[in-house]
Amino acid sequence: MGERNLVLVGFMGTGKSTLGRAVAQVLCRRFTDSDAEIERRAGRSIPEIFASAGEVVFRDWETVVAVELGRPHRGVVATGGGILGRAENLAALRAGGVLVALTARPTVILRRVGGAAAARRRPLLAGGDPLERIRTLLQERGPLYTQADLTLDTGDMRRDAAVAALLRLCAECAGTLRRPRVCARDGGEGGGDAGADRAGPPVL
Ligand code: S3P
Repeated sequence: MGERNLVLVGFMGTGKSTLGRAVAQVLCRRFTDSDAEIERRAGRSIPEIFASAGEVVFRDWETVVAVELGRPHRGVVATGGGILGRAENLAALRAGGVLVALTARPTVILRRVGGAAAARRRPLLAGGDPLERIRTLLQERGPLYTQADLTLDTGDMRRDAAVAALLRLCAECAGTLRRPRVCARDGGEGGGDAGADRAGPPVL
């Protein structure tokens, strides 16, 4: 399992990026956010891609990034909420990693994305009542998220508790959780991972 990634999937506002970054730091693994990676490559923000090129082009970008980030690289990957909409993305992410779906109630999601006004600035939540839109999308996507290997409901958890819960889940999944003795800067790969190899089996 040594090279496998931890891949966080789930709806917006469930904590994928925040928790992914924190867990990567603890485990001294490289963190990548698929949306940030798309923005970097496209040279435009996600709302700009939706507005100028449309959702299909965004989803094409998402597939390119899913295939690349899906390769086993001992990373922690946070994904956009709609990434499992294409079966090929699921296959790519699953091939190289363990998928953990993060969940939360619609009202919690709305609060976490910054409330109704902020939600309307998100392409998928624009137009209509954001809470209704969240409910509808969650219903549509429920079967997608249940394809993950593990699920963690972050709805009632504070950040630190959610990070601890996610680490526990990883440890259970791998049988052993070892923290590298030396961590490379920014949780990047390097000395920390080498240390982990000497110390024993890594988390995933
Ligand atoms: C989307 C979620 C967003 C982003 C894009 C589409 C979706 O990512 O990928 O706006 O389809 O649910 P987050 O889940 O990180 O907010």
